[in-house]
Amino acid sequence: MSADTTVTIYYGPLTWFEEQLGEEEYEGLLDIVYERDEANRRYTHVVEGQTPAEEEPAERPGHVVAESSDYASLNEHVITNFAGLVRSINPEHLHLHNPPMQVHAQLNRSYSTDVKQYDYPAVTRDVLIQFRDGFGDHLVGQADVKELLLAALYPLTTTRRTRPVVLMFYGPSGVGKTETAQFVNNLLSGTLLRKQFSMFHNDKFASYLFGGAHSEPSFAHDLLDRESGVILIDEFDKANSVFHSAFYQLFDDGVFEDKNYRVTLGPSLIICTSNYSSEDEIRQALGEALYSRFDSLVRFNPLSKDEIRRVIDRLVENRFTKLAREEQERVSADDLKFRLYPLADQPGNVRKLGKMVDQVIALTLVRAVLSESLQSAAADA
Ligand SMILES: Nc1ncnc2c1ncn2[C@@H]1O[C@H](COP(=O)(O)OP(=O)(O)OP(=O)(O)O)[C@@H](O)[C@H]1O
Ligand SMILES: [Mg+2]
Repeated sequence: MSADTTVTIYYGPLTWFEEQLGEEEYEGLLDIVYERDEANRRYTHVVEGQTPAEEEPAERPGHVVAESSDYASLNEHVITNFAGLVRSINPEHLHLHNPPMQVHAQLNRSYSTDVKQYDYPAVTRDVLIQFRDGFGDHLVGQADVKELLLAALYPLTTTRRTRPVVLMFYGPSGVGKTETAQFVNNLLSGTLLRKQFSMFHNDKFASYLFGGAHSEPSFAHDLLDRESGVILIDEFDKANSVFHSAFYQLFDDGVFEDKNYRVTLGPSLIICTSNYSSEDEIRQALGEALYSRFDSLVRFNPLSKDEIRRVIDRLVENRFTKLAREEQERVSADDLKFRLYPLADQPGNVRKLGKMVDQVIALTLVRAVLSESLQSAAADA
């Protein structure tokens, strides 16, 4: 019996898991499994009259580790009998990162297991202050959004709150919805978990939400692996209504469970974005059950021409500082702005502004370089 293996299960991002492991020597569970598969395939030839060399009994492994992405490489039947695998490897210590529910449950029955959970960055009063003071530097206009969001974030700063705050950002394209989610997340640190629901076709989406084979991507697994305090579900309006019920428990208690994985979010921030134009439209499209589960619906207004010009100013200034010195001498920021302002008169272009700014800068630079070389060629002649 090998019940003296100590098992520690870690739920959180990979970077944190690696920190937890520290400097000790670890063996990868997958390496051990591959090595054993290899050994099972080897034949031993016995020559008559010779006694075969005894294979040395393998030493008991000290620390064995499996990372979140490792389970996808194991066959389904290995997962189903994970406790058996551990028994046959018989390590002194086993460290598992974001394992499937089934693995956790099996080990719980046979071993003494310890669970460690990552503390996600929380919204504090300091974060509220930074949000209030920094909003204007990151976003043009949307003053109502700032006030609404401050109120919506406040519950997360209290200890009473144990479940997530769920928000719906809605409004036209290119008015700062994703930008705002990014800004809040930057205040909390950690790469933003951003899922674009339009990227999935229906059959893939079903297995993404409800779970499929271990090797397939899954929302619950992505949630377990996340680094960020903010969870951004982009283009929520593009998800087919048959999937809406999958979000009830997530929005109510912060628990999301699929066939293989289970995650408890705690007091985090879930932001869904959409291009709906009114609360009525949201209620009709999502249905009362889902609609009523949002803590707050945050309306983003179209930008005025003047505001779009300010977005252009910021984009140009931002790109300009990133140019090399000799490039900066070849273009003038004011000239660039002036050439881009007419775009403010064509609504619907804000999303493309960044790309257009890059294009105009590149074009100006290449023209300057070409005319310089033409002039120097003329001077040489
Ligand atoms: N209010 C704003 N202030 C500053 N920049 C903005 C604003 N709105 C849009 N932008 C600029 O336009 C780009 C696109 O904005 P963003 O991605 O936030 O749009 P969105 O509202 O999420 O649109 P969609 O509904 O199409 O996803 C941003 O990267 C930013 O450069
Ligand atoms: Mg967006």
